[in-house]
Amino acid sequence: MDLKIDISRTGVTKEQLKNCAPKVEEAMEKLWSGQEEYTGWVKLPLQYGQDELEHLLNTAALIQTQCEILIVIGVGGSYLGTRAAVHALVGPDEIYGSGLSPKSYPEIKFAGNNISGTYHSQLLEDIRKKDVCLCVISKSGTTTETSIAFAILKAALIEKYGKEEAVKRIYAITDKAAGSLREEAEREGYESFEIPDDIGGRYSVLTSVGLLPMAAAGIDIKSMLAGAAAMASSTEWDYNGTDYAVARYELMKTGKQIEIVEYYEPQLDFFAEWLKQLFGESEGKEGKGLFPSSLHLTTDLHSMGQFLQEGNQIFFETILNVKKPARDLPIPNEAGGLFEGKSMNEVNRAALEAVLAAHEASGVPMVKIDIPEINAYYFGQLIYFFETSCSITAYLMGVNPFNQPGVERYKSEMKKMLQQSQPCKA
Ligand code: PA5
Repeated sequence: MDLKIDISRTGVTKEQLKNCAPKVEEAMEKLWSGQEEYTGWVKLPLQYGQDELEHLLNTAALIQTQCEILIVIGVGGSYLGTRAAVHALVGPDEIYGSGLSPKSYPEIKFAGNNISGTYHSQLLEDIRKKDVCLCVISKSGTTTETSIAFAILKAALIEKYGKEEAVKRIYAITDKAAGSLREEAEREGYESFEIPDDIGGRYSVLTSVGLLPMAAAGIDIKSMLAGAAAMASSTEWDYNGTDYAVARYELMKTGKQIEIVEYYEPQLDFFAEWLKQLFGESEGKEGKGLFPSSLHLTTDLHSMGQFLQEGNQIFFETILNVKKPARDLPIPNEAGGLFEGKSMNEVNRAALEAVLAAHEASGVPMVKIDIPEINAYYFGQLIYFFETSCSITAYLMGVNPFNQPGVERYKSEMKKMLQQSQPCKA
């Protein structure tokens, strides 16, 4: 395990870790048994099918020749992992360097993660002006946001290219049999991929759900899978790999209700969003769970720093510390004597250390996770680490990490409202 997990500032004791060990072992056995529903992601990085991988890479290469923009249509677990990876490893522009040249690969845009007409109008503009492909992703094949966005963008694609060419520019990732998207993919002849039955949305980033769009964006998915596989087979799970999961559980028992994930590299903005879904949907049930939150520092120190230091102590902090940021810049002397001869990363690091010291002094429990650097390999490690840790904490809390019964309630309310309201012309 290349990530380093430091729970020394949480107040969680060796005794507590020891007491939890049998339950952690039980949780690990459940995850690895192959008997529990929706645990297909546990072994997947170790046994990813070579044929599927080749299919993904060949399709990604085709997409790269076809378009300037790939629009990924999906929501929740069908999009957040890809967005997190693209934001971290490619970036919205050249400032996030990982050696990729954004110009060699299609730009990745996202649709169907909201129901905003304003947002989607902009994407229609893109279809008018540039060469575009669509990658529609939905396990159920029936999700409202995804269905609406796909219908709108598909119509624009057909208008621009004609039906025959549009079909060649649509890629579908969905269940192998169920749902209207599978039915449409078969009927229309879209190139398609299957989401494994035993992997749920928020644990699906290392399936074709994430891997196809990531590969199209130029991300090294083989390296990402290798990172996840290294994490899966790490012997450290037997020693301190599960400390974070236990610390979260013990902190919840002491009355902490919120986990704030903090990071100092904006590349991790959407990784934090992915984490929020993972934790929120996996743990938030039966009146239990830690409310997942995130702050981007140092930015948010200027809005939330006061609360962290002196506010209602219902939270603990989990700091994602990137040891070797992608780039650095020297600070000119004009910035002030304090910074003379220093680089931006040095000052960022000083801020991180200062926050650790100040918050420790005021008694805020803190976990620190050191990430060697942000690249596809460590990204794979991070995904696997958090999926495993989240599942273990959920088991310790006594909830099923892999269902989301509460998500359905608002959907049925919305359906009722739409049935009652009259159609209108926009
Ligand atoms: O984790 C989950 O299961 C959810 O967030 C789903 O991914 C999300 O609701 C989208 O569902 P679907 O892939 O069926 O469109």
